[in-house]
Amino acid sequence: MNTSLNTLIFLNFRRLELTLKHLISPMDFTIEETNDLLALAERIKDNPDKYAHVCDGKKIATLFYEPSTRTRLSFETAMINLGGQVIGFSSAQSSSAAKGESVADTIRVISCFADICAMRHPKEGAPTVASQFSDIPVINAGDGGHNHPTQTLTDLLTIKLLKGDLNNLTIGLCGDLKFGRTVHSLINAMVRYSNTRFVLISPNELRIPDYLRKEVLDANNIDYLETDELEKNMPDLDILYMTRVQRERFFNEEDYVRLKDSFILDEKKMQYARDDMFVLHPLPRVNEISVSVDKDPRAVYFKQVQYGVYARMALIMKLLDIKEP
Ligand code: CP
Repeated sequence: MNTSLNTLIFLNFRRLELTLKHLISPMDFTIEETNDLLALAERIKDNPDKYAHVCDGKKIATLFYEPSTRTRLSFETAMINLGGQVIGFSSAQSSSAAKGESVADTIRVISCFADICAMRHPKEGAPTVASQFSDIPVINAGDGGHNHPTQTLTDLLTIKLLKGDLNNLTIGLCGDLKFGRTVHSLINAMVRYSNTRFVLISPNELRIPDYLRKEVLDANNIDYLETDELEKNMPDLDILYMTRVQRERFFNEEDYVRLKDSFILDEKKMQYARDDMFVLHPLPRVNEISVSVDKDPRAVYFKQVQYGVYARMALIMKLLDIKEP
């Protein structure tokens, strides 16, 4: 082989090697990559001390243009648990976005400070724009009503740990299926597993967007039912994924008030569920799950929060290409 061809192959290899990996949508990872990541999260859960220094000297920037409790603090905890450090802002108002700085310019700046970043933004597509201008991996921590891929990794890990398998499950999604980005991401992720069935429980006005029905469910021949009846469908479910009605995405308060309490899961409704059904919720909860349900062993939404830290630790390791210690 001549020298110039060798050089070309070497340069192309380096370019491939240097291609940055981001997580913008749950579909950015293949099902094999997703399963590997969940397996890593499980190993971290079982032996956290082993991973306590794998990110020594690394920094994550949390760029949150929208409110958050779990996602931001979970990313920060994940990086600290791995030995790294945290910088960032928790609202658009406390950053130079308030002075008109673009997402593209902000990420160029952040690339000078941090090794990886997690971005939440009210506008769909903002993390995609950031990834196009970034020198560091960008993680979508929720963009408008679009996607929330790290909540999906959290949900998949929770389901895997509690049910033992991600195949052959009937998943009920209940509440605001129109604006709930966690629902959209979870549907996208679960259609890749075998024999998934969805029961989509919502008021008529808050049904899933058309593109999900046509391009994801119908296109993949997925078995699903759209209904406004919760009790009747409870006995069929392996998982019930409750969601709040997303007040911040409504155009008028009147509609929100009319729809906000469409479904309230209480102890009486839980009697219709099987003993091995689990209730998940991405949180925050408003009214949609009565606090009296919290003591039911099938209510696992706080456990789900803890699993979210392991999922994000695994994700940070994957995107920074940190080898298993
Ligand atoms: N589940 C979730 O995204 O919660 P936060 O809005 O508190 O981050």
